[in-house]
Amino acid sequence: MKKVLGLVLAVVLCAAVFAGCSSQTNSVEKIKKAGEIVLLTNAQFPPYEYLGDDNNPAGVDIEIAQKIADELGVKLTVVDMDFDGLIPALNGGKGDFVAAGFTITEERKKSVDFSDPYATSTQMVIVTKEGPKVAEASVDALAGKTVGVQLGTTGDLFVTDEVEGATVKTYKSAIEAGMDLANGRLDAVVVDQLPAQSIVASNDKLMVYDEVLTTEQYAMAVKKGDTALLEVINKVLGEMKDGMTDLTQKHFDAYSGTPAA
Ligand code: ARG
Repeated sequence: MKKVLGLVLAVVLCAAVFAGCSSQTNSVEKIKKAGEIVLLTNAQFPPYEYLGDDNNPAGVDIEIAQKIADELGVKLTVVDMDFDGLIPALNGGKGDFVAAGFTITEERKKSVDFSDPYATSTQMVIVTKEGPKVAEASVDALAGKTVGVQLGTTGDLFVTDEVEGATVKTYKSAIEAGMDLANGRLDAVVVDQLPAQSIVASNDKLMVYDEVLTTEQYAMAVKKGDTALLEVINKVLGEMKDGMTDLTQKHFDAYSGTPAA
């Protein structure tokens, strides 16, 4: 009798341990249980994420994230933080995914997994309208100049790695860099296409060259190996694909209508 009881107990214990394990490895089950999914972003990147009228994060990525939360039947919590802290925060368990106009790069692939791409972007060059100190959007024209970028972005990496003799000034946001450029403290700002156009649209002194420096793709990021959540994200991205242009335009207009902070 004792033996049988012991066996039953062992089986029950094992089952409990297993259940515990599998619910830990399945991020989606955990999110559903918590009733909340946490998005990590940097809301200084219109139209993908910016602070809306009510000072709450708004934008293309926020709307996609809301759809992901809806798909899971949970509440969306947005954590607005420094861009260069996003990957450490994700891997440190501070959130479930990153959506931040986040470019797929080989380097980042070493520490996170990316979803399907949902947007194509380019790096562009912002200058002042009056007496621009950089003559065109090219590596040669940027050489030796003082260039503003957002810390840790692909624009930062590009100017730092590719442009000869540039003084790279890093900012917490490209919007701030744009203000310094307008105030004569920089020769140019290098930033992604739509943020560049948004910044210029809300600052009379600035313009952006049509030529581009590089082309890249945006995707959302999850912790390495988090395939359960990645599947949900890819499903939602697939469903939203046809509406992406309109969604992007809507937020571009919404931001440009708001005076620069
Ligand atoms: N696409 C660039 C990158 O991934 C810039 C992204 C900046 N995003 C933001 N939300 N501030 O490095």
